[in-house]
Amino acid sequence: MSLKKNILALRQKKAIVEKGGGDKAMEKQAAMGKLTARERILALLDTNSFHEYDLFVEHEERNFGMDDKTLAGDGVITGTGTIKGSPICIYAQDFTVMGGSLGLKHARKITKIMDHALKMKVPCIGINDSGGARIQEGIGALAGYGEIFYRNTMSSGVIPQISVILGPCAGGAVYSPALTDFVFVVENISKMFITGPNVIETVLGEKISQEDLGGARVHAEITGNAHFYAMSELECFEQIKELVSLIPHSNLQKADKIEPKKPSFKKNIENIIPADPKQPYDVREIIYALADDSKFLEVMELWAPNIVIGFGRLEGETVGFVANQPMYLAGVLDCDASDKAARFIRFCDAFNIPIITLEDMPGYLPGVDQEHAGVIRHGAKMLYAYSEATVPKITVILRKAYGGGYIAMNSRHLGADFMFAWPGAEIAVMGPEGAANIIFRKEIMEAEDEDAMRQQKVQEYIEKFANPYVAASKGYIDAVIEPLETRGLLLHALDLSKNKDDHRPYKKHGVPPF
Ligand code: HXC
Repeated sequence: MSLKKNILALRQKKAIVEKGGGDKAMEKQAAMGKLTARERILALLDTNSFHEYDLFVEHEERNFGMDDKTLAGDGVITGTGTIKGSPICIYAQDFTVMGGSLGLKHARKITKIMDHALKMKVPCIGINDSGGARIQEGIGALAGYGEIFYRNTMSSGVIPQISVILGPCAGGAVYSPALTDFVFVVENISKMFITGPNVIETVLGEKISQEDLGGARVHAEITGNAHFYAMSELECFEQIKELVSLIPHSNLQKADKIEPKKPSFKKNIENIIPADPKQPYDVREIIYALADDSKFLEVMELWAPNIVIGFGRLEGETVGFVANQPMYLAGVLDCDASDKAARFIRFCDAFNIPIITLEDMPGYLPGVDQEHAGVIRHGAKMLYAYSEATVPKITVILRKAYGGGYIAMNSRHLGADFMFAWPGAEIAVMGPEGAANIIFRKEIMEAEDEDAMRQQKVQEYIEKFANPYVAASKGYIDAVIEPLETRGLLLHALDLSKNKDDHRPYKKHGVPPF
């Protein structure tokens, strides 16, 4: 055959496989409001940048009527491409091909592209849309999942791993996304659960919809399994593009520097915190006032909102912000907030992203619920993550810094490189009311006017301890600064930290309080 004919034959072969599960299945996918696997990849990647591999891989199952079945690409598309010019590896399960179910060859296509990503040191993105383990393949499918989980673990902390849930993701399949760094979900489309509604009804007699069991909102708001929530697939792809542009390709690099921009936020940073220390405010406004172009990509916005985490830029360089949010529960630390911050800190540390901590919280949340939920174990994760991190670590105490929370929020004692405090900062073991009630209990009880005496003692405590100067006098705070000086000092501190050289004692790995 002439080369021309061979080329035509190739094109025909490709066109057949590219049709996935066929027109009917494609129509069904569209009727569910879902793009196809191929459309998703093309919408996410830079135009004409996608290169597909293993298009002609075939399954080898011979049981349960599979011997005469051809499955286009074995139900998954894999390849490489770029996002805003950055190289990435990607796979997308094709629900139109046998429900995107995972057989051994399907899994091996995924593990091959994962190996490639790890070797080439580029991010790996997985788009999940699958009925789970291909039932006909039995152990082959389970083996495939295990091989994916193993690679997720090997890649952890080496290359960024992103999971996008754009359909069902059921059974053990959920553990690959859970092992990755960022999980994206889309309203009405994403469904994630270990045990589906049918089984729950059979075993427990409870009726529940897929949406209520493990829909997008459930994972963005309640379980904390999702990091980004979008209303449509296209919005989700925009979020992924922004994230990829903010993080490095691997742990060997820094995120790309872009043209520095001044904050565009109009509010004066001095006017964000209310005069009354009991009044809340939105700490994101402080971030907008500090970050380049006032841009902030918030991570896990809807879960544990008492702490805010996310990426922004300072002088064009990516930084991670960790900030207490006084708008929710006064910004206290609790189990979920600790988990949320700790994992983010570890991501930043693994990928050379400096951490800016903005502190305003009254400590750890007291109460039986939190104690029984394991606030000791969860809270310890934050101590561990900050102590372990060797990237530049800068803290600004905006207002309250009480008790264990003061230590946990990247204090000098955990290795902060720079500790700044605004003049209204209150750094103490606990809030003035609580402290006065305990240490002056006798005087208050014996006073003729208990309330007047309590107020007097609270005032005494505030004057003596609830300020930044005691900590500054001991060198625990490097400088008490004016709010308007903050951005300039952060830029200077980051510049000074460029060649930071910090080492930890040799170990195989630590044993953090997971
Ligand atoms: C083989 C599957 C499949 C599977 C779906 N299909 N899931 N084939 N193995 N796991 C096939 C269907 O037979 C159907 O084929 C096509 O995909 C589309 O599926 P529908 O059921 O028509 O789609 P829909 O109504 O949208 O329902 C989607 C679904 C449902 C909710 C995902 O298919 C479902 O419940 N599937 C089974 C889910 C499950 O229990 N998976 C195993 C989980 S256990 P035709 O030919 O009719 O088009 C697991 C263990 C992993 O994953 C452990 C790892 C450690």
